[in-house]
Amino acid sequence: MSSTPCIKCQIGPSVLNSDLANLASESNRVLDSGADYLHLDVMDGHFVPNITFGAPVVKCLRSKVPVGTYFDVHMMVSEPEKWIRDMEDAGCNRFVFHYESTDRPADLIRLVREAGMDVGVVVKPKTPVSVVYPLVDHVDMVLIMTVEPGFGGQKFMTDMMPKVADLRARYPNLDIEVDGGLSPATIDAAAQAGANLIVAGTAVMKSDNPKDVIQQLRDSVNKWLVYKTPA
Ligand code: DX5
Ligand code: ZN
Repeated sequence: MSSTPCIKCQIGPSVLNSDLANLASESNRVLDSGADYLHLDVMDGHFVPNITFGAPVVKCLRSKVPVGTYFDVHMMVSEPEKWIRDMEDAGCNRFVFHYESTDRPADLIRLVREAGMDVGVVVKPKTPVSVVYPLVDHVDMVLIMTVEPGFGGQKFMTDMMPKVADLRARYPNLDIEVDGGLSPATIDAAAQAGANLIVAGTAVMKSDNPKDVIQQLRDSVNKWLVYKTPA
């Protein structure tokens, strides 16, 4: 027996592999092409072997995109708690922290909520999905990395799909995001496993037709997005 899904498909392009010197126009280009939100990759050169940008850049971007644009900020940093206030001030909507970056995830979740932001927890490929079970009721979203965090343009890790499927089976209404290597060629695997929030960097930003790519991603997710009620 099935019923109307309680979760929705949303496509959030990652601007990491775009022309970062023109971040505002690149962001508006994908928003005009049908993106539901923007995925902003913050890296500190410590938690991951790359450096991108932080709250000052996010804050500048906030004033250059339409009011209401949702900023999903992927914090690939050590000591994420240091940046909660700055990210809230910069206009971050969802603060997504790595499980591996903190010893006190429950405290971090509370602090992010107190700052008025949505909160997501993300796991690297080698981290078992079971670590998020105790946190699911307290977060708005779980992100399953489908590449090692740090760089855009990597190969999609199909072997992460059992983690997505496990979560979807346990939590039919949870927002489950996937990030890394998503494209029209790989989306079916992620959609079938149960992902409903799709981050796509290279596939969208480097396409001559981002609208078409976003639509293909959306069509695949919607095809598989059937909420099955418990027997
Ligand atoms: C990787 C980032 C991803 C990345 C996705 O560390 O978290 O968001 O930009 O880019 P693609 O889609 O090119 O793998
Ligand atoms: Zn990301």
